[in-house]
Amino acid sequence: MKNLLSIRDLSKDKAIELLSSSNEMSAVNRRAIKTLPTLRGKTVVNLFYENSTRTRISFEIAAKRLGADVINVSSEVSSASKGEGLKDTAQTLEALGADAIVLRHPMSGAAHAMATRGWISSSVINAGDGRHEHPTQALLDALTINRHFDAGCDFTGLKVLIVGDLLHSRVARSNFLLLNLLGATVIATGPKELMPTGFSEMGVTLYEGLDQALEQKPDAIMMLRVQKERMQADVAFSASNYQRSWSLTEERLGQLKPASVIMHPGPMNRGLEISNGAAEDSRSQVLEQVQNGLAVRMAVLHHLLGGQS
Ligand code: NCD
Repeated sequence: MKNLLSIRDLSKDKAIELLSSSNEMSAVNRRAIKTLPTLRGKTVVNLFYENSTRTRISFEIAAKRLGADVINVSSEVSSASKGEGLKDTAQTLEALGADAIVLRHPMSGAAHAMATRGWISSSVINAGDGRHEHPTQALLDALTINRHFDAGCDFTGLKVLIVGDLLHSRVARSNFLLLNLLGATVIATGPKELMPTGFSEMGVTLYEGLDQALEQKPDAIMMLRVQKERMQADVAFSASNYQRSWSLTEERLGQLKPASVIMHPGPMNRGLEISNGAAEDSRSQVLEQVQNGLAVRMAVLHHLLGGQS
């Protein structure tokens, strides 16, 4: 495996292999000396054309824990701001010795373009492309669910509810694909104007309202960030209406099973899609998600660059 562009690149066996090597990486992260030499001499470039805190930092720490040299490039400081295209940037980074490029880009399909048009032979990891996919986020979410429910990578019988701005969410899209692959029942709900077409073909059952969806008694509920930056000016958005209908408020917490988990990819808009009470509820796994993200990114880098097929 050379690139990770989409969850569609993964067979079920490959996904399970990545999750189990993420568990091994978590064990490394609990040691006093948290490093492995597997990527010594390799160079990983984080090329981010959108803001990011946890994804960029966790890719950086992940690569460093494996011994790679890491360079961070953000669009503000690269020639992108002078109009250099993705092809020239990719070829420049490869000429400088990049073995892998971790790309976050506002355009859906950017990582595919970089990896598949014959521009470069470095590995490409999609760290979020527009509203398309965010495969390492789905892997870290699956790892979180797997751990919490001790599911042995078989999610049969687990119901996952995804709530909110489905239209703009690459997190939701990658999660639908991976959760289905692992056998979970995936349900979703969100405002009609933020509901894309085609989700039922992805094996997702849609509910009209959050309260109806909560009646399905999900084992995990994933709240999505409201992606205001991706909304067209013509989508009338009212924060107070959204909060009333779609937020995991403190009142709604009572509808969740005691053993359910609450998830959010971050960054959270507290008071909008998620209340403070929900973010800090004992069922919240938000910080476990962040920790698992580090392990997943170590596993992915190791698989792509560490000599395994
Ligand atoms: C997500 C992203 O950027 O796609 N965040 C993340 O990677 N942790 C989700 C979001 O920004 O809504």
